[in-house]
Amino acid sequence: MSPTSELLAQTLAQTGFHPRLPQQRRLYEAAKVAIHQQQLTAGGKLPSSRDLAADLGIARNTVIAAFEQLAAEGYVTSRLGSGTYVADLQAHSASMRGGPSHAPQSGRTAQRAQLAVRLSKRGQEVTRVAAGPKFEIQPFAPGDPDFSSFPLKLWHRLQNRVWREVGSDLRSDLLDYGQAGGYAPLRQAITEYLRLSRSVKVSVEQVLITGGTQQSLDLCAQLLADAGDTAWIEDPGYWGARRVFQARELKLHPVAVDGEGMAIKAADLATKPRLIYVTPSHQYPTGAVMSLARRRELLDVAVRKDAWILEDDYDSEFRYTGRPLAALQGLDNDDRVLYMGTFSKALYPGIKIGYLVVPPGLIDGFKTALYDLQRPGQLMVQAALADFISLGHFTAHLRKIRQTYGARRELLRRTLVNQFGSRLDGRVTISSEESGLHLVVQLPGNADDVALERKAAEAGIQVKALSTYYLSPPTRRGLLVGYAYCTPEQITHYGRILATIIQSEVRR
Ligand SMILES: Cc1ncc(COP(=O)(O)O)c(C=O)c1O
Repeated sequence: MSPTSELLAQTLAQTGFHPRLPQQRRLYEAAKVAIHQQQLTAGGKLPSSRDLAADLGIARNTVIAAFEQLAAEGYVTSRLGSGTYVADLQAHSASMRGGPSHAPQSGRTAQRAQLAVRLSKRGQEVTRVAAGPKFEIQPFAPGDPDFSSFPLKLWHRLQNRVWREVGSDLRSDLLDYGQAGGYAPLRQAITEYLRLSRSVKVSVEQVLITGGTQQSLDLCAQLLADAGDTAWIEDPGYWGARRVFQARELKLHPVAVDGEGMAIKAADLATKPRLIYVTPSHQYPTGAVMSLARRRELLDVAVRKDAWILEDDYDSEFRYTGRPLAALQGLDNDDRVLYMGTFSKALYPGIKIGYLVVPPGLIDGFKTALYDLQRPGQLMVQAALADFISLGHFTAHLRKIRQTYGARRELLRRTLVNQFGSRLDGRVTISSEESGLHLVVQLPGNADDVALERKAAEAGIQVKALSTYYLSPPTRRGLLVGYAYCTPEQITHYGRILATIIQSEVRR
């Protein structure tokens, strides 16, 4: 067996090395890690697909597919008739200085540069940096729910029933565009859920079904603010909201966040916000819960400044101890809050169904705009979802995943703490709030969290540096570590590796 085959075979045999991925993807991941760690060096020749397949005891087509993926992303180059060679990633990154730092994306960056020539000024601004992480089924990717636990068979049954009814002409209207703010029984089911679980003050008329939070935010930005208006955003904060506001040409004003959520200072009050975007139940990404005093203060500021508060309640379903927190909207007596939620986390991201609760005075305008600007559809999925909620399956599913995620969170925390032991003398702390899909490992102010993110990526771990979520110069350093889409075996295996990587940086 060649040394390369042996190296890849060893990686593939590790417990916890992407056990749920298909063979071809596992091989690709193993090669990628080896290239990043320079165990396979630039210019080195890989075994032929036939030899590697024989050495690893897998199909040749599987190897070919993995090689093709590596070649497409710039990790290897194929020379006709000569074989496959490891690419020179250093040269690659040097040639694209000034762009995103990930070498294999250079092809895409070059493409972006070409496109920019034809884009509008706004288009160029929006696409200048691709901030959104692409979903990579990699350990510790923050924010990803475990959608392998989604009850597929049950969903299939509910969806089939809707299709049968459409086929027998009972509900052929479901094939039309969605009108009047979305499928009525779904709006009803969401209304009841929000009243009961989130203490939202809501009538069914106020609920609009959208294509997820991004679309809810975009509607708000379009209908409530004009180009040049100011939007207050949490700092650090959610890049997705920032991108929407930028695309609508709003001026971003970062407001610092502390342990009680958005902390408004005199300098902030000197500006005039039209929109204020907040995540009060579980600040993204720090995890802070907004205190009652801050909630009242924020509502008061919104009235005084004649601003709208956009409350993004993106993962409030995941609270592992105590009662669920009430939404900020429930405290609002002046119709200043637009409340938004999503099924991306509780069910699966690609469902792209969210909801927006608007104050009574905005209902007609928002319904008209939703229909005219979006021509929304997917009533079939909305109908299945309505049944899923009203028959009690949503609550049962939430109960189950809450338990699973709570246990995974605790396991990750324990693994990291045990590995750190007393060696780091309290210089590293782990966020203690009992909610959400990720925790924050807070590092000393001089730690280079971006370098740590890169090192972790080289070991096949996809954590995110806290400093990259800031608009102003970062005041804190840390790592966001997701635990929902990780088996317990992966959490212990990769948790130990991550802790070692952190130790090596913090001890220096
Ligand atoms: C803070 C925050 N809000 C909302 C969302 C979900 O948005 P959507 O419903 O568009 O999928 C995310 C997803 O990662 C998020 O992190």
